[in-house]
This record gives sequence, structure tokens and C-alpha cells, in this order.
Amino acid sequence: MKNIGILLSGRGSNFEAIAKNVATGAVRNAHIAVVISNKPDAGGLETARKLGLNAVAIPSKGKDRESHDREVVAALKQHNVDLVCLAGYMRLLSPWFVQQFPQRILNIHPSLLPAFPGLEAQEQAFAYGVKVAGCTVHFVDEELDHGAIIVQKAIPVLDSDDEHTLAARILEQEHIAYSEAINLVLSGKFKTAGRRIVKT
Ligand code: GRF
Repeated sequence: MKNIGILLSGRGSNFEAIAKNVATGAVRNAHIAVVISNKPDAGGLETARKLGLNAVAIPSKGKDRESHDREVVAALKQHNVDLVCLAGYMRLLSPWFVQQFPQRILNIHPSLLPAFPGLEAQEQAFAYGVKVAGCTVHFVDEELDHGAIIVQKAIPVLDSDDEHTLAARILEQEHIAYSEAINLVLSGKFKTAGRRIVKT
């Protein structure tokens, strides 16, 4: 059984999808050991409490990056976390944090990286006029939205879309993609060749 630690800052729909898949066994041999938010009022924390999970607020406001990260890493280690999943966690991790969990931190981003890193990726993609959009689950390294890609899901951009309908359809794919990536990483059945993650 592997322990997952979730970091979030907001509504937490990706966390909820993961929690559901852990509960049904669609995410195999895993347990959500702790849900941590840097925003005490995050909806995702409330959901975690309702699900009976350990829910911890570690406010980031007014703290420098590394001292906040040290508190978060201490909480993750206290709960024996094997895999850290960023699910709408709106903070860049310090290099020190990344080094604490080598190839053990995942992030989800609502674009087909390397297109449209950063904030409001769906709006960026829509405004750019792309015909295909999607989401990416990747390992976290020291650069924003940059580490090796584990899973991507693509969807067509419809002529009838606006940025909201597009974002909603990307989100549906995010909820599928994250659990797929977690299963692959926890199974250990992959190898890394440069930036390429290949199933074994
Ligand atoms: C998602 O779009 C995710 O890709 C991005 O932040 C958003 C979080 O949404 N990193 P939610 O909190 O999981 O609903």
C-alpha cells in the first residue's frame, strides 16, 4: 500500500476524482494519507474533511518559499507519504522540496505541454486559436510546468466552444488522466529515457 499526499489551493476537483478512484480501487494499492492546502479556506480541504481524510492547512501567506516548504515536507513525511500529487496547488516548489521526493511529485496542468505553461492555460489556448487542447500529468522538477510527461489527453476545440466550455471538457479529461498517471507511477512499470517516460 502506497501513501499519497495531496497538495491543493482551491476547489479540489482533481483531488476528489483521485479520492473516488482510490475508494473504488481504480487507483490500486493506494491510500490518501494527507491533504494539505496553503489556503486555509480551500474548498478541497473541506471535501477532505467530509471524506474523513487528514486535512491540514499550512498557510503560505507571509512566509518565504523554503520555510513554508519545510513545514509542508515535514507534514508529508509525518504521514509517510510515498507520492506527492499537486492538484491545483498554486505555488512553485523550492528546489529543496523537489529534492526531498525524487520522481515522486506529480502535477496536472490544463494544456498540452509544452504549450501554454503558467496561469489560465485553457484561456491562453482558446485565445491562441488552437484546434486541439488537453491536459498533461508530469513529474515535477525545479521549473514551472516542465518535468517529464507521464500522461496527456487531447480533445478537439469545437467551433461552438468558449473558454468556459473548453475548460470544462479539459477538466473531465484531467480527472481521468491523473489517476492513470498515479497508477503507472505507483506500479513502477515505466522507465525514463531522457524526458521520455515509457511503459515497461
Ligand atoms: C486544474 O485545472 C489543474 O489542471 C490546475 O489547476 C486546476 C485545479 O482544479 N493545475 P481543481 O482544484 O482540481 O478543481
